[in-house]
Amino acid sequence: MQQYRHDDEAERADLIDGLLAPHASVQPKHFYDVLGSRLFEAITALPEYYPTRTEAEIFAAHATAIGARCGSGGVLIDLGAGNCQKAARLFGVLRPAQYVALDISVEFLRDTLAGLQQQHPQIPMMGLGADLCAPLALPAPIRQGRRLFFYPGSSIGNFAPDAALALLQRLRAAARQGDGVLIGVDLLKDEAQLVSAYDDALGVTAAFNRNVLRNVNRAIDANFALADWRHVASFDRQGSRIQMHLQAVRDVEVHWTGGGRAFHAGERIHTEDSHKYRVEGFAALLEEAGFADPVCWTDARQWFAVFHARVPA
Ligand SMILES: C[S@@+](CC[C@H](N)C(=O)[O-])C[C@H]1O[C@@H](n2cnc3c(N)ncnc32)[C@H](O)[C@@H]1O
Repeated sequence: MQQYRHDDEAERADLIDGLLAPHASVQPKHFYDVLGSRLFEAITALPEYYPTRTEAEIFAAHATAIGARCGSGGVLIDLGAGNCQKAARLFGVLRPAQYVALDISVEFLRDTLAGLQQQHPQIPMMGLGADLCAPLALPAPIRQGRRLFFYPGSSIGNFAPDAALALLQRLRAAARQGDGVLIGVDLLKDEAQLVSAYDDALGVTAAFNRNVLRNVNRAIDANFALADWRHVASFDRQGSRIQMHLQAVRDVEVHWTGGGRAFHAGERIHTEDSHKYRVEGFAALLEEAGFADPVCWTDARQWFAVFHARVPA
């Protein structure tokens, strides 16, 4: 397991800037400590949360075509790997020469990868603790050979389209001729269905959202009280995105080392966007980033899409 050095001071300054902004925000990467990763796993089991199940259906239904298109025997680089289950289900068709799992949730990844390596002792594996928002640095132990950058779960939707384009361009810069990307993307659909996927009846997504405050408390020594904040999920039609916020249920004053802020009852902290795409729109983004020949597989209801694109000759 390799971990890139964390610049705690820069992260702290960034968090405080976000909290002090007129429209306060915390970046979604702060959801993921070990508990956040476990809560996300629980979300994927909820009846309302269709993306994980639908993407898995697509992988199962089109495994042979995906394998044929991506090729086997390359280096599989899983971005925001989480519990690594999606990559593991493709091991059979991709037969990777090496599996590299990258995630910001380092402790969770370490445990997951140890279990996965036991199940697949024949595949060389490597964990990378890294932030995808930073420039992508792939260390030397990553083998030479064809690379497939795997980015499932519609995680790319957490970036606004211009930032998603910048991330795809960073991948393109790290890729060479013959390399490719395999990316899961959530598609635009009925608004009520979208909102319920981010506001489940059991309240797991609410817990996941509020957990960000525990992580903020730890990172900047703040005193957010979780009971002061309620989870809000809404759909912004113009921006084609689900938005998650935490809303103050009363007037609150929050302090952290060196500062603090008052929030009025009803004031919100923005914690996540999840952008929803049309097939043509995402294919165009891939091409704009410098990838060629995009193809996609979808489910029968066109809820979700898995794209493959290549580095052109
Ligand atoms: C929505 S989950 C998807 C997990 C898994 N790939 C899946 O499809 O089920 C997002 C994953 O990306 C990781 N992540 C979020 N922001 C990240 C960042 N900036 N850099 C690296 N990993 C990040 C999280 O820890 C989490 O495991």
